[in-house]
Amino acid sequence: MGERPPLPVVALISGSGTNLQALIDAQLRGAPFRLAAVISNRADALGLERARRHDIPTRVLSHRDYSDRESFDSKLAELIDAFTPGLVVLAGFMRILTAGFVDRYQGRMMNIHPSLLPKFRGLHTHQRAIDAGEAEHGASVHFVTAELDGGPVILQARVPVQPDDDAESLAARVLEREHLLYPTAVSWFAEGRLQLGEDGHPHLDARPLLEPRTLEPPSPAQEIQAAR
Ligand code: GRF
Repeated sequence: MGERPPLPVVALISGSGTNLQALIDAQLRGAPFRLAAVISNRADALGLERARRHDIPTRVLSHRDYSDRESFDSKLAELIDAFTPGLVVLAGFMRILTAGFVDRYQGRMMNIHPSLLPKFRGLHTHQRAIDAGEAEHGASVHFVTAELDGGPVILQARVPVQPDDDAESLAARVLEREHLLYPTAVSWFAEGRLQLGEDGHPHLDARPLLEPRTLEPPSPAQEIQAAR
């Protein structure tokens, strides 16, 4: 064991990049992947600064410079492929991707989404969960397919909705769990334990995941450890 070189990963971001930071922190703690580049469609994305601080190469590709999605996605693929990643991770990348782009990275691209998919695809998930009277909300990591937020779900974290929650307080608790979810799923993939099977299900340790795995809440001992 331990012979496999770290898997090169390219992250696509548009914003603050706290999930990117969680991946960087996992890498620093010895996770089996290496962020090869961070690409943003917005020059002012805070996540770019996070990457620069750790000497991770960054690229900016503004969608405003492209007249259609096809030409933007084809340039994006060119930028990504220059880093020969084994995995592409969408980490708050606020762009709808063309089918051609998604096909190109079939089984090699993941997304993190702030809901218990298949519930609440799309935007404003926290408010929608509150409005629907959900007792539980959460986040999901899934392989990306052409259907928006519709790909096979790998791993989820569940978060109870409190009676006094607003979208902001709920989002903050979900985000905390996201920061554990994404490094876990990316590590599984990097270790060769996780693939997208030909049957369309994620396979973990050579078994199809018919239901997503659930990341259990951290034990009090782990919370103390993490706070150190
Ligand atoms: C997260 O809530 C993620 O689930 C969603 O976009 C948000 C990105 O946040 N896809 P950050 O940029 O990682 O802080």
